[in-house]
Amino acid sequence: MKDNIILEALDISKTYHSSEIEVEALKPCSLSFTKGEFTAVIGKSGSGKTTLLHLLGTQDVPDQGEILLGGKSILNLSDSALSRVRRRKIGFVYQDYSLFPEYTAYENIVLPIRLDGRKEETAEIEGIMETLGITHCRDKFPNEMSGGEQQRTAIARALAIKPAVILADEPTGNLDAENSLEVIRLLSQASKRYDQTIIMVTHDREASSYADRVLRIRDGVVSA
Ligand SMILES: Nc1ncnc2c1ncn2[C@@H]1O[C@H](COP(=O)(O)OP(=O)(O)OP(=O)(O)O)[C@@H](O)[C@H]1O
Ligand SMILES: [Mg+2]
Repeated sequence: MKDNIILEALDISKTYHSSEIEVEALKPCSLSFTKGEFTAVIGKSGSGKTTLLHLLGTQDVPDQGEILLGGKSILNLSDSALSRVRRRKIGFVYQDYSLFPEYTAYENIVLPIRLDGRKEETAEIEGIMETLGITHCRDKFPNEMSGGEQQRTAIARALAIKPAVILADEPTGNLDAENSLEVIRLLSQASKRYDQTIIMVTHDREASSYADRVLRIRDGVVSA
C-alpha cells in the first residue's frame, strides 16, 4: 500500500434486491483515494453515486470486497468501533444540510465533537468558520441564515471533527450557481489546508473542474 493512500476499496459491489427486481447499483470496482485529494463523482441520476458514497462511508455494506481506511478494514468492526470511526474519521455533508434548528451555527458545528465526549478548541472552530466565511453567523439559528450559509455551516461541522475523509453528496444541490461554486472552492481549499480527502458527488460539470480528479459512473460502472 502506498503511504499516502487513506481510503481504499477493493473489488466492491452492491446489488439491491427489492420485491422482484434486482438492481446492480454498483458493479465490481476498485478505487483508492490519497490524503488531501479532492475527487468529484459525476453521473446521471440513478447511476450509483450515492450507493458508492454510502459504501465508502460505512452507511451500507458491499456484497463483496474490502474497504480499508488508513490501511484497516472497516467492514468487520464491532458496533462500537464502527461508531467511533464514523464519529472521528469520516465527515458527511448532505444535500439538505441537516442542521439542528434549535442550535446556533456555532453549536451545530461543535455538536459532533461534544457528542464524542470532547471539548472543542474554540480558536480552531473560529478559524474554520473564518475560512468558510460564516463568522458573522456564529450566533444565528439556521432559519436566520441563507441557504449558502447553512450549507457552509454543514461543511464546517464536517471539517470540525478533523476527519480523514469527507463524503459530500451533492452538497450544492440547493444552491444557485454562484454560491455553489463558492462552496466547492471552499471545500477544495479546506481539503488542501487540513490535508483532508474529499469525495464529492455533483451534477455540476463546472464544479468538477475544481477537483483533482473526476470519477464518472454510468449504470453502476465507475471509470476515471
Ligand atoms: N435501497 C434501495 N433499494 C433498491 N434499489 C435502490 C436502493 N437505493 C438505490 N437503489 C437503486 O440503485 C440505483 C443507484 O441508486 P443511487 O441512489 O446510488 O443513484 P444516484 O447516482 O445517487 O442517483 P441521484 O443522482 O438521483 O441521487 C438506482 O437504480 C436506484 O433505484
Ligand atoms: Mg444520489
